[in-house]
Amino acid sequence: MHARPFRSALYIPGSRPRALDKARTLPVDAILFDLEDAVTPAEKATARETLGHELGAGGYGDRVRIVRINALSTEWGARDAAAVAEMACDAVLLPKVNGPGDVQALTKLVPHLPVWAMMETPGCVFEARAIAAHPAVQGFVVGTNDLAKDLNARVGAGRGELMAALQMCLLGARAAGIVAIDGVYNAFKDEAGLQSECRQGRDLGFDGKSLIHPAQVAVANEIFAPSEEEIALAERQIAAYEEAEAAGQGVAVVDGKIVENLHVATARATLARAAAIRELDAGADATVSAGG
Ligand code: COA
Ligand code: MG
Repeated sequence: MHARPFRSALYIPGSRPRALDKARTLPVDAILFDLEDAVTPAEKATARETLGHELGAGGYGDRVRIVRINALSTEWGARDAAAVAEMACDAVLLPKVNGPGDVQALTKLVPHLPVWAMMETPGCVFEARAIAAHPAVQGFVVGTNDLAKDLNARVGAGRGELMAALQMCLLGARAAGIVAIDGVYNAFKDEAGLQSECRQGRDLGFDGKSLIHPAQVAVANEIFAPSEEEIALAERQIAAYEEAEAAGQGVAVVDGKIVENLHVATARATLARAAAIRELDAGADATVSAGG
């Protein structure tokens, strides 16, 4: 069993039955079922019911089912938490987290579910390490739109304006060994823009990207998976290192670059990730052809 891939995490408003149904056939690694900002105040109660019903009906296969509730400080938070505690889901996503205390408060209401934290307030960025270290926390989803709003930032293509926050979140996540998912790309019809932002997120170290539209799924799945070239290089590095080791040396050279044990660890991680993705995709294909 390999670590689970989180290349693509698609938001779906809990109030849209058609979209909730469509997600049963989309090749996403995770679904972020939303009761928060994608749902209007007037629809909050029905969204809770619709979502509970759809999750109960099942059919989401291997996709990780994560429900985003409203913050516990809002008028909907407590009822959302009570509803999620009864839902057929894998985790609960808490927005507007400011520190580990917010996570702790949620675990009192849903003690059986892992927690994911939206990293989207200026305060939480300073607390990234402590939030990630909370034993209930399994992953971060960075909320770049809320961060930009609270920072009063005008974010351009390279996201330099958000870089400190993105990296603080990643540092916190990696220090605790939890999953880190990058923020959304708003212009869902701009495929080239999405590609470059996915590559940037991947190169920074994110596990995947949060998405808002089905058209974004294929791009994220491709970019956050190891490429054929990366897999081939990893195999050559491992082979070269093993050969060097057998000859009593601690360092090998591949393509003019040194390969030490730490590079071999990265190469093995690349192969493990590729294998996990193959396994997951094969399972999804089997489910589709079985008509489930
Ligand atoms: N998840 C699953 N299916 C989705 C979807 C989503 N996020 N967004 C759209 N779809 C479906 C539609 O239901 C439609 O399916 P159909 O052809 O079976 O009817 C199909 O994909 C095409 O949708 P399209 O007409 O291109 O989009 P739209 O105008 O209906 O919706 C958005 C556009 C942006 C409003 C919509 O994608 C959305 O609500 N995204 C999520 C927003 C969100 O959750 N935000 C909170 C976090 S930032
Ligand atoms: Mg938000």
